[in-house]
Amino acid sequence: MLDKINKLILEIRDASITTKEDLEQFRIHYQGRKGILAALFEEFKNVPNDQKKETGKILNDLKMAIQARIDSFLGNAGSTPESATADQDLTRPVTYMEPGPRHPLSIVRNRIIEIFSRIGYSVAEDREIEDDWHNFTALNFPEEHPARDMQDTFFIEKNPDIALRTHTSSVQIRTMEKNKPPIRSIFPGRVFRNEAISARAHCIFHQVEGLSVDTDVSFRDLKQTLLYFAQEMFGEDTQIRLRPSYFPFTEPSGEMDVSCNICGGKGCNICKYTGWVEILGCGMVDPAVLDNCNIDSEIYTGFAFGMGIERITMLKYQIRDLRLFFENDLRFLNQFRGEI
Ligand code: DAH
Repeated sequence: MLDKINKLILEIRDASITTKEDLEQFRIHYQGRKGILAALFEEFKNVPNDQKKETGKILNDLKMAIQARIDSFLGNAGSTPESATADQDLTRPVTYMEPGPRHPLSIVRNRIIEIFSRIGYSVAEDREIEDDWHNFTALNFPEEHPARDMQDTFFIEKNPDIALRTHTSSVQIRTMEKNKPPIRSIFPGRVFRNEAISARAHCIFHQVEGLSVDTDVSFRDLKQTLLYFAQEMFGEDTQIRLRPSYFPFTEPSGEMDVSCNICGGKGCNICKYTGWVEILGCGMVDPAVLDNCNIDSEIYTGFAFGMGIERITMLKYQIRDLRLFFENDLRFLNQFRGEI
């Protein structure tokens, strides 16, 4: 029986099937109720037990070889109605697949872009794998700054250092190297830090960077721009407050809080009972950074800011755990259906 089946496998491989009629004959000959396969399975019943395993396997190979020839003919001919087999009902309605809702981070990213576009900001994106110059050195990070440490940064290569960017501030440098002022742009993108994953931190997250460079740009402009943004994003009653802070690439630097839109400033667990929630870092571009990009700091000034999209989304939609953004759980994502 083994020999017979082996011969059949070769025969099937060589069989010529060029038309629908050939296919139908082939099918009846091998797969039909009185066809070769049926007869072999009948014969298989009488195979001695000790040969059943081996014979069964090769019989199965034969069955698959027959089906493979049929499938390949149908595949080559395309699944046009002419090549459909009788058991395919082409009049059946297709299953409707509802389009997925937009991810909340995309909704907020789009909203941020829209708010800044309205006051003349262009949008640019750049690479996620960065060199030391654009991620650190040109931004005035001293050699021994802790952010360069393996603890915080995912390095891809050492000497010269190549890393996953730790912030979108690298795009400030890329933009100023390529363009002369006036510059007014925002840079959304994904950033990476070697952080333990928790309800409040993740090793992958998203930022939007902003940069405005021109003659006569002052802290006033920064503050007014950020107030406009906060009120467009969280509602016209939103207040902002700026606290002094430190970033190597801005001088002076600040952190901006918005009044908590969940408790209306009265105090709740989202704002840790302070009435304020921090949403971004900002400041006046350090003249050394302008000079690093060949922009004359005697003539031009600028401001910059960087915000975390996750943080803003959490505040806007009262989401308490950052991990929800990355788990693809439809029970979470479907709540954003209808938003753009
Ligand atoms: N790059 C900073 C961070 O990731 C955020 C930041 C602070 C961006 C101040 C800025 C800025 O542009 O001016 O923590």
